[in-house]
Amino acid sequence: MAYCSRIIGTGSHLPDQIMTNAQLVEKLDTSDEWIVERTGIRERRIARVGESTSALAFQAAENALEAAEISAQDLDLVIVATTTPDNTFPSTATKVQAMLGMDHGAAFDVQAVCSGFIYALSVADNFIRAGQAKNVLVIGAEVMTRILDWEDRATCVLFGDGAGAVVLQAQEIEAGEQIGILSTHLHSDGKLRDLLYVDGGPGTDGNVGKLRMLGREVFRHAVTNLAAVVGEALEANGLSQTDIDWLVPHQANKRILDGTARKLGLSAEQVVVTVDRHANTSAASVPLALDEAVRDGRIQPGQLVLMEAMGGGLTWGAALVRW
Ligand code: UT7
Repeated sequence: MAYCSRIIGTGSHLPDQIMTNAQLVEKLDTSDEWIVERTGIRERRIARVGESTSALAFQAAENALEAAEISAQDLDLVIVATTTPDNTFPSTATKVQAMLGMDHGAAFDVQAVCSGFIYALSVADNFIRAGQAKNVLVIGAEVMTRILDWEDRATCVLFGDGAGAVVLQAQEIEAGEQIGILSTHLHSDGKLRDLLYVDGGPGTDGNVGKLRMLGREVFRHAVTNLAAVVGEALEANGLSQTDIDWLVPHQANKRILDGTARKLGLSAEQVVVTVDRHANTSAASVPLALDEAVRDGRIQPGQLVLMEAMGGGLTWGAALVRW
């Protein structure tokens, strides 16, 4: 018997503290016009002192479990995608597992920076297809604003904090049936690791470090790599661009979203956009956008949803889901 993964619930959580572009202009040589024109970002959420990645992840998880109408006791795996874990160890996933009152199953983190959610979704989907898990909680959670250099205007205006989650459930399918997660596609190219990285870590200098990025270069690779991986996902399922109902992309830059939508022949209305309000929340951005579009009724059963992301590593990937 073959299994597929159905997304049976989504959830998200944002810190309540908002930082607008106007507030950034007060302490930085930048302008609302530059930020909006070059990125589409108008505001971002900032975690308060003491508000941890695991706390955001836990709230998103609770919302997803409620939507899925299952309890944490039904889960057999918790995966957290994050590049800003609470601690060097243990994994943030084990902390969330404990917060959910679970002492069974397994929990671990996945680190693929902004592609983290797609990577974690792929890992979870493969656990389910292999028959090794029935109910899996996949979370993307970040407090990116804690690893920013607030004097570097080229990066600090771009990021925000938040968390999103999905609950995957195994469903038996007939051979060839196209339902749930149809396929996931992951890539990386470590030669390009210096385009987007953090200049510290437990295995090098023992510091947490700050985010560094060659934005223009990353932008160039994002446009090319995302187009390629989206093509790969469609081809693998014998589908074409016109079959896509919704694009739920990683929210790094509105110009990248517009470029991808144009290449796919999608209208602006078919792209789920949160970058204006959330900025780039790294691994949290795709599940945050997904939850928004599910809760407001845009995404409906039977529709084809394309998720994609690219981030530090470089890493990139896509997932196609028949909702
Ligand atoms: O999530 C992981 C993946 N990340 C991404 O996909 C990010 C990809 N990159 C980008 O989104 C864009 O490259 C940025 C938004 C980061 C930058 O936009 P850009 O159009 O590529 O600008 P740029 O870096 O080429 O800089 C253009 C100018 C520079 O001034 P000069 O050298 O032309 O005089 C910068 O110094 O804009 C200046 N600049 C700023 N000006 C006002 C850079 N940051 C700012 C700022 N405010 N915040």
